[in-house]
Amino acid sequence: MGNTGGQEVLLTVENLTKEFLTTHGIIEAIKDVNLRIYKSELACVIGPSGCGKSTILSMIGGISKPTSGKILLEGKRLTGPSPDIGIVFQKYAAFPWMTVEQNVEYGPRMRGLSKSERRAITEKYVGLVNLKGYEHLYPKELSGGMSKRVDIARAYANNPRILLMDEPFGALDDLTKKKMQEELLKIWSLENKTIFFVTHDLEEAAFLADRVIIMGRNPNTIIKDVPVEFGRPRQAELRTKPEFVAFKKYLSEVMGNDTGENG
Ligand SMILES: Nc1ncnc2c1ncn2[C@@H]1O[C@H](COP(=O)(O)OP(=O)(O)O)[C@@H](O)[C@H]1O
Ligand SMILES: [Mg+2]
Repeated sequence: MGNTGGQEVLLTVENLTKEFLTTHGIIEAIKDVNLRIYKSELACVIGPSGCGKSTILSMIGGISKPTSGKILLEGKRLTGPSPDIGIVFQKYAAFPWMTVEQNVEYGPRMRGLSKSERRAITEKYVGLVNLKGYEHLYPKELSGGMSKRVDIARAYANNPRILLMDEPFGALDDLTKKKMQEELLKIWSLENKTIFFVTHDLEEAAFLADRVIIMGRNPNTIIKDVPVEFGRPRQAELRTKPEFVAFKKYLSEVMGNDTGENG
């Protein structure tokens, strides 16, 4: 089941620019980025290292402020961190002194939900990320993939309007990474939550996304927005199909053709 149907805009990024003043002068981390994220879609942003992917994500997440431009969530301006925005980073985020269960329950607890509501939410998301039976383990007792599942469960348990993911599987081995991608698609199809996913991995973007937004360097901005036509549900077999391989090649060509001299 694809979620491209409803073209209702959830998030709008308008003329977003971020400059950093460094000892070597001004760095334009992103320049004039415009994009729309539609409700329920899974949109991926790809681009070479340093093109500004994390910068965009951290500004949407309210972690850093734009130099100019604006970000709107359902038409309302976002100016800082918001409970409507959930984030999953590459780095493991669970509290080491809490069990899996306590980690997932943390957000709902902070939101002041009742014990029974918290329990229901925790049970649901621990189950959804396949950590049933591991509730009482501590982060140091978990594998990389399991730790990532905790991060995903925590993000979902907060019920944000949109989930931002910045190379969440970037530190995992290839096999685990692919498994996590397949699991993420399953959760996404069940939860109907908008995901804005940043990666430098073309294969990951092609496998996950409804739409791939491609960024280039110098200027660091969006160069192309490509719909992904593969049906859903997507299974591991898709990865070896000729049309998939061809699509990856196409993405790689678009990225490779960016000479950094446009605009
Ligand atoms: N805090 C910072 N200070 C100075 N330069 C930064 C800072 N954060 C990012 N940059 C620069 O901005 C550009 C974009 O970085 P980033 O968004 O991390 O790229 P990506 O996530 O695509 O690899 C890079 O040139 C990077 O060096
Ligand atoms: Mg990054």
